[in-house]
Amino acid sequence: MSAKADTKRIAEGVGLGLRHDLAEAMFERDPAEIGWVEIHPENYVARGGTFADNLERALERWAILPHGLSLCVGTTTRYEASYVRQLRGLLDKIDAPFYSDHLCFGGIDGTYLHDLLPLPFTKESVRNVAERVAELQDGIGRPVAVENISYYADPSMPEHGWAEPDFLLEVLDAADCKLLLDVNNIYVNALNHRFDPRPYIDRIPAERVVQIHVAGHLTKKDGQIIDTHGEPICEGVYDLLDYTLERIGPTPVLLERDGNFPPLEELLGELSRLRTIYDRATAAHAASRAPAPASEARP
Ligand SMILES: [Fe+2]
Repeated sequence: MSAKADTKRIAEGVGLGLRHDLAEAMFERDPAEIGWVEIHPENYVARGGTFADNLERALERWAILPHGLSLCVGTTTRYEASYVRQLRGLLDKIDAPFYSDHLCFGGIDGTYLHDLLPLPFTKESVRNVAERVAELQDGIGRPVAVENISYYADPSMPEHGWAEPDFLLEVLDAADCKLLLDVNNIYVNALNHRFDPRPYIDRIPAERVVQIHVAGHLTKKDGQIIDTHGEPICEGVYDLLDYTLERIGPTPVLLERDGNFPPLEELLGELSRLRTIYDRATAAHAASRAPAPASEARP
C-alpha cells in the first residue's frame, strides 16, 4: 500500500462515477477535476477480475462513496442476509460513511424487475420504507441515505393529497434517515409533471442531505424528459444545483454518467463547471450564515 493510501480520504466537492467504460482513462489521467468517485456495490460484491483490480486502484487515489442499485428501500420483502453481509464487508473496506439506495421498489413476490419503480405516495409506503431502512442500517452497520427518483406515471394518491416533497419529507421523518438529493431527478419530474422545483428544494431538510447527484437527460420531440444519464448536463440543472448548494451548503456532488460515454476530456469540462458552481454557491451559503460584524466599541 502506498503512503498516499494510508491517509483517510473524505469525499468533498465534485466527483465522478467509476464506470467500467471510463475507468482506464480515469486511472491514466488521475485528473485534479475528479475529487472522489462513486461505485455501485453490485459490481464489486463477490466479484474478482477487472472490477476488483479497479477497486484497489481507486482506493489508492480517491475517497469512494457507494451507491446501490438493487436494495430499493420500498421493497416489501426482507433483504437477502448473505448479500447484506457481503455488502457490509465492502463498505468496511472502502470506509463508507453511509450507503445510499433508491426510494422506490424494484420487484414484487421475489421477482426482480431491474427497474426503479415509484412508490405510491401513501402512509403504507412510508411505514414500509421506515422498516426496510431500519433493517438495512442494522445489517450494514452505518446510516442509509434514500435517493429521490424520477418517474413518468404520477404516483400521488388523491386520498392522501401528497405531492412528491410531502411524501419525501414523511419518509425522512419516519425512517430518520439521510438523503441523497438528486437535483436532476427533481428537475426532470418538475418538467414532466409541471411543478416548480425551487419551492421543493426550499423544503428539503439540509441537515439530512449527505450527497447530491446531477446528470444529463434527453428531451423528446413531444417535450417529455427521459432521465438517461447519457447526455451533457443542461443549463436548468446547473442553475438548480447552484440554488440547492447555496441553500444547503457544502455537500459532495456527483456527476452521474451511465451511458453514451464521451471522451473523458468532455466530462472533465462538466466537472470543472460543477466545481465553479460549487465554490460560488457554498461561499454564498457561508456568507449568508456569517455573524454580523460587532459594532466598534467606543469610550
Ligand atoms: Fe441519481
